[in-house]
Amino acid sequence: MMDKLRARYHFQPEKNWMNDPNGPVVIDGKLHLFYQYNPYGAAWGNMTWGHAVAKDLTVWKRLPCALHPDQPYDKDGVFSGCCVLKDGLPHILYTGVQPEVQCLAIGDEKAERFEKYEHNPIIVREEGEQLNGFRDPFAWQEDGMTYIAIGSGEKGRRGFAFVYRSEDLKHWERVGELCSGDDPEEDMWECPNFIRFPDGSATLLVSLMKAQGVFAMDGTYRDHKLDAGPLRPFDLGNSYYAPNTVTLPDGRIVNIGWMKETVSGRETAGWQGMMTLPREVMQYGDGTVGVRPVGEVARLRGERLASKKEFTLRSGENALKGVHSRSCEIFIEFEAGSQGQLVLELCKSERGEEKCVVTYDGVSDAVWADCGRCGGAKARVGGYVAGRGATKLRVFLDGSALEIYINDRETLTTRVYPAREDSDGMRLYAEGGVRVSRLQVYEMKSGYEEE
Ligand code: FRU
Repeated sequence: MMDKLRARYHFQPEKNWMNDPNGPVVIDGKLHLFYQYNPYGAAWGNMTWGHAVAKDLTVWKRLPCALHPDQPYDKDGVFSGCCVLKDGLPHILYTGVQPEVQCLAIGDEKAERFEKYEHNPIIVREEGEQLNGFRDPFAWQEDGMTYIAIGSGEKGRRGFAFVYRSEDLKHWERVGELCSGDDPEEDMWECPNFIRFPDGSATLLVSLMKAQGVFAMDGTYRDHKLDAGPLRPFDLGNSYYAPNTVTLPDGRIVNIGWMKETVSGRETAGWQGMMTLPREVMQYGDGTVGVRPVGEVARLRGERLASKKEFTLRSGENALKGVHSRSCEIFIEFEAGSQGQLVLELCKSERGEEKCVVTYDGVSDAVWADCGRCGGAKARVGGYVAGRGATKLRVFLDGSALEIYINDRETLTTRVYPAREDSDGMRLYAEGGVRVSRLQVYEMKSGYEEE
């Protein structure tokens, strides 16, 4: 029987476990994406680099695995990393375990086959150094050299990211620390993503294990250091972790995250984890940083299931009566004022035994998703979004994936697990009167080439 919790237009492997996206890189106009994968089961283990390629950033084809844990320096795992194009060839920088060391693998022009460098590892810790993790290299180019940030920390003290640099990707020099945290609880930074903007400002994303989420630090980058403000949550949900970021040839900065399961025991399905849609990270005129789906996502839109303009939404109504889908985009532009509340129910069974409730609350300027009555996490997730009067929501539902993009700035990523066959209904209503300027629902097409 078809597993209705699998994704139709989000990337996931055919079966088994996946976690972090690794080494996104554009080759011949296509996005190659690698990922942490267990070829032998639906729980974490045997870390291998899975491989896929996307046309238009959104139409995926699965490829054979790129790297296996088959060397003394990586036999306990080929962990996360990045991919750099040098002399026309993809160069993968990854963490080999154990202990955690940085390694190099070089591919052919088409990224079909990768060979591990004979003198691996290329970076080890300095002698006597007591680090709490040393992994997940992330590369950028600067002064004609390749720089990488490596996630690390000191136990019970703080997390931080090292900076190293190299001209040939084989010989590396430690430059120092990019920046550092001060939370003794978060004593290791996973998967640093260093995003630089043309005006000299930069954002560092780090994945924090205790908080179970991705946090951003915005600041100024000078002399290989990021002078940054406090950490802010980079997503309002509970299913976005260990993202990776690539700058496309056209200059767009694209981020993809691991959408992890939000409840335990899911391995019985034979698979766990999927990728978010590709997200563009934007710097706005006022210097703030926001996120929106890449434009190509609109090409996945299929049949229009609903379309309404300029109306007032009231309580007791359902502006989406008769619309059914488990694989769609819901686009709503509205004005809630300071009293209004917009409520969107998804995955709703006919009698409402199951439903997931997304709320925009104009009183507190917050967005919430409650998937507790739909097999998801019991606690609702969400939080404050910068209020701007008019609000735009783009809600992507895809099997068990639920991604909400708010005002081309914030994101809320979560998961829903409806069990009933009839849980594909919707309801849209409001409390306090909400003026809707545009409402559209699109069925989404398959995001896989072979289908
Ligand atoms: C983040 C992470 C990384 C590590 C990888 C191992 O989810 O723990 O730090 O490289 O997963 O699979």
